[in-house]
Amino acid sequence: MVKLFRKDLIDKKPSVVDVPQRKRMMCLNESCMNPFEVVQDDFLKRMQDIQLNRYISPVADELRQKLADYVGHGMQPENLVWGNGADDMIFHTILSVREDERSFAVSPAPSYFDYKTYTDMVGMGMHFVELDEDFRLDPAQYIAAASHPDCKLAILCNPNNPTGNLFPKDDLRTIVEALPDKLVLLDETYYEFSGESLIDELERHPNLILVRSFSKAFSGAGLRFGYAISSASNIYNLRKVFITFHSSVLAQAFALSILDNIPAFRQQVAQISALRQDAYHQIKIMPQMTVQPSHTNFLAFTVGEQTPQLFQYLKTRDIALRDIGGQPRLKNYLRATLSCEDDTKELIKEMWNWLDMNEIRRHSADMEEPLREGIAGM
Ligand SMILES: Cc1ncc(COP(=O)(O)O)c(C=O)c1O
Repeated sequence: MVKLFRKDLIDKKPSVVDVPQRKRMMCLNESCMNPFEVVQDDFLKRMQDIQLNRYISPVADELRQKLADYVGHGMQPENLVWGNGADDMIFHTILSVREDERSFAVSPAPSYFDYKTYTDMVGMGMHFVELDEDFRLDPAQYIAAASHPDCKLAILCNPNNPTGNLFPKDDLRTIVEALPDKLVLLDETYYEFSGESLIDELERHPNLILVRSFSKAFSGAGLRFGYAISSASNIYNLRKVFITFHSSVLAQAFALSILDNIPAFRQQVAQISALRQDAYHQIKIMPQMTVQPSHTNFLAFTVGEQTPQLFQYLKTRDIALRDIGGQPRLKNYLRATLSCEDDTKELIKEMWNWLDMNEIRRHSADMEEPLREGIAGM
């Protein structure tokens, strides 16, 4: 057979997201709110001045400055590059570090599944470092794996998807410090929900690059807008693997309109975080249920061996969750996105219905008072 493509692509498949399509989509950590509802006046006004017939638009310069202002901490436009979501930043970072077929990246497991998708695409290997049973990372073990000469990228996700937990800042700092000759990509896609960032470490650690997204806190999953923050020299080098006009002027204008309406999104993040905490406490008291604390817009939980039945039952009730049971330490775990009250109430109600139908009995303990977390960030 004639070989037309790279030989390592032969056994690979195109990346598709395989989730059930249901009325209540609680499976992709999206927002229930369409950001167009919030920013339409601003966006439509802005579009009147935008020439879509041109490659170059002044929108880019305005956005570069506004995004730098939003990011804060002394960051300047030259510390930023943006593109089609955090995924695009991750993909291009991988592309920029691969030397040859021996090159690999290191990531904790369980973590964001698509790190491996993108190392596969680029033709780079992936080595996983397993988290412990409480989803904690052993920095020494991670550093040992990433210190190999062929490791070209150390990836970390904080808060971690799909477990929802934060790694201690000191552990992350230890890792970045111990790997001065490796690029460390810290994925802060859920930053606005946790308020935790290593942004203040960027100056001290030239090997650190942060990746963020407009898909979660800014409700813009379909917008496809994410960005990376690092030293001016790292950003300059990263830009060498981007195509010339890699970001639509429409997306840039919309991102600007979001940045002009931050308070509405900040309020929504606070609501989602409160909703998530309520749901956490409601799931925690369900019999035989284990739910992980989370600093994101989702919760990971399990009801043990019967979890697949619960997943199927919820599908019949028009609720789509994410089955994350394929990852290490997450056997029988599901992930539910919390974004609007209506979906969350229905989920809790249907989870109780399923427990009752299966005669899985309630604890005698009373409902705990829901805790509400303060929201940092944004
Ligand atoms: C940890 C993590 N990184 C990156 C992404 C991709 O985000 P984006 O939509 O900005 O590409 C996601 C999306 O769910 C995610 O959970």
